[in-house]
Amino acid sequence: MQHRLRFFASCAGLACLLGCGSNSSAVSQSIASLRAVARPSGRTVGAAISASRLDDAVYAAAAREFSTTTPENELKWGPVEPEPGVFSFDGADRILALAAENDMRMRGHTLVWHSQLPDWVKAISDRDELIAVIERHINEVVGRYRGRIYAWDVVNEAFTDWRGPPMGQTERPPEFDPHLRGTHPSDTDPMYADLNAGTNGLDSVFGRVIGPEYVELAFRLAHAADPNALLFINDFNAEGLGAKSDALYRFVSDLKAAGVPIDGVGLQMHISAETMGDRTTANIVQNMQRLADLGLQIHITEFDVSLCGTLSLEERRTLQTNRWREIAEACVNQPACTAITTWGIADPNSWRDRECSVGAERSEPLLFDLNYQRKPVYGTFAAALQHDPVPAAATQH
Ligand code: XIL
Repeated sequence: MQHRLRFFASCAGLACLLGCGSNSSAVSQSIASLRAVARPSGRTVGAAISASRLDDAVYAAAAREFSTTTPENELKWGPVEPEPGVFSFDGADRILALAAENDMRMRGHTLVWHSQLPDWVKAISDRDELIAVIERHINEVVGRYRGRIYAWDVVNEAFTDWRGPPMGQTERPPEFDPHLRGTHPSDTDPMYADLNAGTNGLDSVFGRVIGPEYVELAFRLAHAADPNALLFINDFNAEGLGAKSDALYRFVSDLKAAGVPIDGVGLQMHISAETMGDRTTANIVQNMQRLADLGLQIHITEFDVSLCGTLSLEERRTLQTNRWREIAEACVNQPACTAITTWGIADPNSWRDRECSVGAERSEPLLFDLNYQRKPVYGTFAAALQHDPVPAAATQH
């Protein structure tokens, strides 16, 4: 009750304008920047950036709206170490220059991931060799950016997800049993080799060749290479309450209990307006709380909200707007949630742009339009970032 009263008492300016139903498009245009509206909450607000787009001045101006950046692809193993021991940092350095010039912080994405991984790494079958290769990779990449990248997604998408509807099912089957990729014999069943090896396949060279302990190894190496960087395990479809988020929760509880230097969990937050599954806002709030109770931070690392679905367009737009608002509010109401990053800037550049199966419909999952102009939902998101925030926990070691 007090919470609500405080909100209404302070209902002036932007939050009130939106809360009271005024034109959110006009409000979007009146905002100084997302970083400015997020600042009082103590949360950072970020975007995934592509180095190749930075020559476009309008894109670069939109990127400067944010207080953090994440290179969308430039720090993944494939681009960074395409050949053994041969490193290429040009793309990441360009993004870091933008960050340094504009007082922005940078998140690093990502060190150990089964996807966007060069074939020469995938081909390693000797455990000691793979450990040595991970060690060189992490030392080189984290070491180079020591003190300049404040948070790393050390391990990405380690847990298996349901691979889709093999028999026309549309819901995850009850036997869906998330585990670390590559660590169960069936993950590498030769009968399903093609299916298991894909981006969302069950296999991972790291789990298969090293075993589950590769995760701990990666965190210890990253911590040694930059003791001040915040270290995250990052995953998708683990935002709400369900088999996958339970598995991740149990796993990070064990890491914490074992004294592994892990600072937080990255919730990717690739969500949809219409289809929520186990990722309702109430479930996400509860999941954040149990992670916070372990003493972990939460970063929302890849936020976007797809419009695809079957309801009327108007209904889906309303749901989409609600999702942007509710997730931002969930973060600013949770002290352990310290950062929100959107996965890209403008709709047409989003990795989800073409995911709708209906005609030419686009998923419109981000805050800026084709011309890098603010969409109405930008105003909703900005207002939510200011909605009665609870102070954030400390964001540095
Ligand atoms: C995506 C990028 O956005 C695309 O440009 C690329 O082609 C594929 O990867 N989860 C992650 C991100 O952790 O790294 C992915 O990024 C999206 C899903």
